[in-house]
Amino acid sequence: MAGASILCCWLVICLALICDACDIFDDVHLVGASISISTAANSTISSFEPREATIASIQHAIFHEAVSCRAIVQSFLDRIAAYDKQGPSLNAIITTNPNALMYADELDQKAGEPGFIPGVLHCVPMVLKDNYDTFDMPTTGGSLSLRGAQPAADASAVLRIRAAGAVIIAKANLHEFAISGLTISSILGQTKNPYDLTRTPGGSSGGTGASVAASFAVMGTGTDTVNSIRSPTSANSLVGIRPTRGLVSRDGVVPLSYTQDAIGPLARTVFDAATLLGVMAGYNPADNVSALGVGQAQDYAFYALQGAKDASLFEGVRIGVVDILINQTESDPEVYQVNKVFNATLAALGQVGATVLHVTDRTLDITHLSAVFDVQIYEFRTELDNYLQNYNGTVPATSLDEIVSQNLYEKGDAYTGAFMRNATIPLNNETNPEYFTRRSGIDGLRTQLALRFAEQNLDVMFYPHQNRLVVPIGSSTQSGRNGLVAALTGLPAIGVPGGFSDPTDTAPIGVPVGVEFMGMPFTEGRLVEIAAAFERLMRARRAPLSTWESV
Ligand SMILES: *[C@@H]1O[C@H](CO)[C@@H](O)[C@H](O)[C@H]1NC(C)=O
Ligand SMILES: *[C@@H]1O[C@H](CO)[C@@H](O)[C@H](O)[C@H]1NC(C)=O
Ligand SMILES: *[C@@H]1O[C@H](CO)[C@@H](O)[C@H](O)[C@H]1NC(C)=O
Ligand SMILES: *[C@@H]1O[C@H](CO)[C@@H](O)[C@H](O)[C@H]1NC(C)=O
Ligand SMILES: *[C@@H]1O[C@H](CO)[C@@H](O)[C@H](O)[C@H]1NC(C)=O
Ligand SMILES: *[C@@H]1O[C@H](CO)[C@@H](O)[C@H](O)[C@H]1NC(C)=O
Ligand SMILES: *[C@@H]1O[C@H](CO)[C@@H](O)[C@H](O)[C@H]1NC(C)=O
Repeated sequence: MAGASILCCWLVICLALICDACDIFDDVHLVGASISISTAANSTISSFEPREATIASIQHAIFHEAVSCRAIVQSFLDRIAAYDKQGPSLNAIITTNPNALMYADELDQKAGEPGFIPGVLHCVPMVLKDNYDTFDMPTTGGSLSLRGAQPAADASAVLRIRAAGAVIIAKANLHEFAISGLTISSILGQTKNPYDLTRTPGGSSGGTGASVAASFAVMGTGTDTVNSIRSPTSANSLVGIRPTRGLVSRDGVVPLSYTQDAIGPLARTVFDAATLLGVMAGYNPADNVSALGVGQAQDYAFYALQGAKDASLFEGVRIGVVDILINQTESDPEVYQVNKVFNATLAALGQVGATVLHVTDRTLDITHLSAVFDVQIYEFRTELDNYLQNYNGTVPATSLDEIVSQNLYEKGDAYTGAFMRNATIPLNNETNPEYFTRRSGIDGLRTQLALRFAEQNLDVMFYPHQNRLVVPIGSSTQSGRNGLVAALTGLPAIGVPGGFSDPTDTAPIGVPVGVEFMGMPFTEGRLVEIAAAFERLMRARRAPLSTWESV
């Protein structure tokens, strides 16, 4: 029963956290509104406050207030119904799970059985980016070409998430096939940013980002080939983790790049993101890269608790600001606002004893790295064709060539179509010598990064995820993002809320600005610890007003 006692310990830690969680709840999230938490002393409570809910608040409701899982899941479904296709019309959800309440009932029933041991995500409502295979909902990649595609089995990360007790309530929009960062797809169109309805939510996992920010769910999943977990994390005042290459098996996720793809969590707190990462981490032979992660997983939830409790953690922590990733053109207010927030985080870190150093390597320039090393265009066709041709289930297309010739992809974003057509050109394949040059260049870049860490004995590198505010709807690209350094080298990175720009007419509490910590391979534990301490230091997360009204 070793497994059982570990779970029991986890629950005790989790319950011990509840006072902290309430504290965060009061201090951080409320944006001038008040909230009523059900506190009746009998066991008939059927209402639950879903706004800014966390794993801890859900466990508290279920195990201390006897709230049913059904009531919890219903409260999130109600928010999707109220805000996704009406009101602010975030347009983040592609499919709502018709079985969600049935799963909740099953959990309620199991929880009443003697000897029941809850999973670490017991009754935690989640959204999945709609490129994760699910046996009970279609998996479209955002594309009309894959409308109705129904896998017979879950992706292995999804199996782990369900086994931990989570309830998957919806599949979220993404930039079509995760190719760009605007979150616009042929199957659903544009998702909006809940903090500023005139801006994009970042991307490509922007449907997940908007959904988690707006409390459509407690947490969600994303995929990240260049920036795609951390961009919506930054744009929606969230925490998101791109794990080390190999820590989490990618099998059963619509692929883009064998070298650059990673999958991971988005949540509203470091603890919740860390817990979900721990659930997702694992080997599956169907993704051979995941063999690199065997034996590397750590107890990330434990590290999150460590970081949150120890105020002196930053003494002696060595943080390397990557200078080239900051835009110096402060005459542009979109840049200035980010630098102002980033500078405030540096001042705060300095005050608590962190050693702030500078990484002055000018070759870590994103435009340069993208031009010289990025391999997506050589890998996409092979990867997607493999996915479609080995499909277990029903899928309406069998190759990228077929998808391109159907011509159904989103026309509102010129880049996506150009990239897809480009990837069908025979020259862009994995036997092209240029591909080998790039792959070996990436090996060199990884060593170069390790050197930069070693030279100054850095714990983490640090930079704004995006060196300008997330772009307005209608822009041609999501410019200024810094995710490629980790994406190429396979290093882990965690995005955390840094603050907000000044309020404007369209952004009543400002536009979120996210910062990113990057570490050496398989140092997610340390990264989570530092991020949790940073979260406690800055308390920067705010809920969006556009979806704040109780439903
Ligand atoms: C439980 O609490 C609710 C609301 O506070 C109340 O209406 C109900 O009568 C109570 N039930 C019992 C059995 O005490
Ligand atoms: C397809 O998925 C089903 C359901 O998980 C499984 O039973 C079956 O073995 C799978 N088939 C193949 C060919 O993988
Ligand atoms: C890993 O899998 C990829 C296909 O996804 C394949 O091209 C590659 O040869 C495999 N590598 C090894 C070492 O098995
Ligand atoms: C920095 O911002 C300016 C002003 O928006 C922009 O023109 C320039 O391209 C940006 N530089 C980089 C390297 O992104
Ligand atoms: C941020 O700090 C840098 C370095 O001290 C400075 O050059 C820059 O002007 C500052 N920007 C803002 C907006 O405070
Ligand atoms: C198309 O691929 C070539 C490499 O073969 C690259 O130089 C070009 O930028 C690509 N264009 C797009 C839109 O992906
Ligand atoms: C892949 O590209 C090379 C050129 O680098 C070309 O000779 C070869 O025919 C291409 N292979 C396929 C299957 O298109």
